[in-house]
Amino acid sequence: MSDVEVIRAGGVLEVTLNRPAKKNALTNSMYRALNIALREAEHDPAIGAVLIGGAGGVFSAGNDIGDFVAAVQGGEMVGADFVRKIAAFSKPLVAAVDGLAVGIGCTMLLHCDLVYATPESRFSLPFVDLGLLPEAGASLLLPRRVGMARASAWLLAGESFGADEALAAGLLNATVAKDALMATAREKAAQLAAKPRTALMAARKFLRGDKEEVLARIEAELDAFHRALASPEARAALTAFLNKGK
Ligand code: COA
Repeated sequence: MSDVEVIRAGGVLEVTLNRPAKKNALTNSMYRALNIALREAEHDPAIGAVLIGGAGGVFSAGNDIGDFVAAVQGGEMVGADFVRKIAAFSKPLVAAVDGLAVGIGCTMLLHCDLVYATPESRFSLPFVDLGLLPEAGASLLLPRRVGMARASAWLLAGESFGADEALAAGLLNATVAKDALMATAREKAAQLAAKPRTALMAARKFLRGDKEEVLARIEAELDAFHRALASPEARAALTAFLNKGK
């Protein structure tokens, strides 16, 4: 079994984050697989939508912390390419969240058109507490989506939140019981994939606004993120996480 499962279901490319023993924390190799899946979906006329979900009762605990530490020592940050790709992606994206959605596991939802989550799901954006900064355009897109008050509570104060708050804030389309989550998300993705493609993609493009502005913010965030990653605060927080069991 791969840690990113990709299957075709009619016109939908279904992508499942599948590293449950590590809470689906995203490694460089997982980002590589996600980038390939997005490229395939972008260019394949048979694919009309992408559905992203997580295996094992968790969506994603965010970037793999070990890979963050390795990046400081000159390792790759393939996640940077993933955020560029998901922000520039032109077909509809649907997310099915069950369980934890942390860091990029949460910010990637800002690039999804329809987001469904189980009532038990929990979201958190702990960047600042780790000595880091928001990424994936979250500093621009989150306040637009949920208002400055909530964006500040979530991104600056680092308050985690549940599915009810995420729904009330407009981050989610609906909460769906666990046993119905995937069926609902698949049905919605299939409906989108079956719509007149040109009209749907053009409407989506207008809805999502100025892509260049989002991509420029992503670059600015990444620049600051890389510097923050090398800071003593970030090193201390990330190392503490890696050493927690020792
Ligand atoms: N990177 C690397 N490994 C991670 C991870 C991450 N982001 N999140 C979880 N894991 C690993 C844990 O180290 C643990 O591995 P182990 O079993 O080998 O010790 C395993 O996944 C299970 O996680 P655990 O912490 O035991 O589960 P939990 O239910 O007690 O807590 C979280 C879950 C997500 C709250 C907690 O793991 C956490 O805070 N993770 C880090 C989240 C984060 O800061 N992400 C980056 C945001 S920028």
